[in-house]
Amino acid sequence: MMNSSQPDGFTAASTTAPVHALRAGMVGQGMIWDETYRPFFDMAARRPLFNPLFGACDVDLVAIASRTGLRAERYRQTSGARGSQMQSFVEPGSVPQLLRSGNVNFVCIATPDDRHFDACRLVLAAGKHLLVEKPSVLKLSQLEELNSLAEKNDVLAKVVYHKLFDPDHKKLRTLVADEDLRHVNNGYCSLLEPKSISENQFSEWISGRNPGTYVAVHYIKLIDFTFGGRLKTVHCNGQRGLVGPTDGDTWDSVQLRLTYEYADAREATFDIHTSWVTPDNFPGYVEQEVQFRFDNGVWLGDSRRRGVELTIEDRTPSAIKTSLNNHFATEFVEPWGERRRRGYGIEAIARFAHEVAHVEFGGAKNDRSQRLRAMRELAYNDLSADRQVVAAVEAMEAILAAASSGTPDCFVRVEGNAERLLLFIPGKSEPRVLHS
Ligand SMILES: NC(=O)c1ccc[n+]([C@@H]2O[C@H](COP(=O)([O-])OP(=O)(O)OC[C@H]3O[C@@H](n4cnc5c(N)ncnc54)[C@H](O)[C@@H]3O)[C@@H](O)[C@H]2O)c1
Repeated sequence: MMNSSQPDGFTAASTTAPVHALRAGMVGQGMIWDETYRPFFDMAARRPLFNPLFGACDVDLVAIASRTGLRAERYRQTSGARGSQMQSFVEPGSVPQLLRSGNVNFVCIATPDDRHFDACRLVLAAGKHLLVEKPSVLKLSQLEELNSLAEKNDVLAKVVYHKLFDPDHKKLRTLVADEDLRHVNNGYCSLLEPKSISENQFSEWISGRNPGTYVAVHYIKLIDFTFGGRLKTVHCNGQRGLVGPTDGDTWDSVQLRLTYEYADAREATFDIHTSWVTPDNFPGYVEQEVQFRFDNGVWLGDSRRRGVELTIEDRTPSAIKTSLNNHFATEFVEPWGERRRRGYGIEAIARFAHEVAHVEFGGAKNDRSQRLRAMRELAYNDLSADRQVVAAVEAMEAILAAASSGTPDCFVRVEGNAERLLLFIPGKSEPRVLHS
């Protein structure tokens, strides 16, 4: 197992002579780029990664693909000498151009979720390691294609679920792993985004989309990864009328219900509520709450109110929020004077870079395939372990699509290891096969 001497995996000082180098490409430079990728690449430019398994490793962002290139240009201009080394490519065809442009080792994809698949396929087909934002893809058939490409071309294909890095969720998993909390029975999660997300930030691509795919996946993965089990049934409801018309296919809020079964034949059901129409003057950036009930206990987590309440005249709760998440990707002045962004959002990307460096530089060339296999076995981020999450997303999207085309109240049964998805339609005796 890999270990880093620094908690966030960078060298302690900028003077360590790097012995290895990774070149990275970035696709998409929107909100999540600003929050997590930019701080990661900025930090990596100041300090190489460090891991006893491969030593020190430089990570350079050398190519960016985006729709218009405006942010890329601003970023290049503010990045000094590094900026002049970066190439920027714009649509149409930004990803093939990026892949042709130079010798990147890995590519991160942070485009809107319905554009992940095309970009991922190109990256893996070009034989580059891949890191894609959640949800990885929207259909099982797409996931299967990406997994075979990764396998065929001997590269990693990984997805970012940074909530698994949240210290509270790590503790939950530890209590479950140690059987201090025994057998989950049911639970709820909610993640409510502000209106500014649907009205401004995502207005270019929001048509036909829903907040469930965008954020429920965080909790689908948390449930799937923490409690295990087999996904069995997916129910889903939603509301319309604010972001788009009442009878349209763009959703304001979504309530997803998942039922799992476990090896002992007992079941658990989870409700996940999401929205992107919460008022902008809400006291936190997003409302994030979970409750899981076990045979012998209850876990109640509020990731927004973690104990800090801030008031600044004329600034909270709009410019700055009243309840802050200081664990995700926040700017701090460290006790030793250094200013930097830190948090689990950035840690998830750094960890992926460590995995790539370990595959490429963590031992003899002849043993690369063993190292690749070991990194693929990490179920927290490998695409091969994302089946049930993608099955839940595909089922949710199919139920919402049926509702928006006049057939509400459908549900999906998941068979085997998410091998078959069957959509049950009220009044019809035979289900529609979504995936087989
Ligand atoms: N991990 C998280 O908590 C988190 C938070 C926010 C977003 N995300 C994920 O990150 C992804 C992007 O979300 P965002 O909030 O940054 O979105 P955004 O709308 O702010 O940015 C999207 C970016 O993609 C670029 N883009 C769009 N189409 C493109 C194309 N065809 N080719 C190349 N670039 C293209 C745009 O230029 C823009 O830079 C989504 O998958 C989302 O689910 C994750």
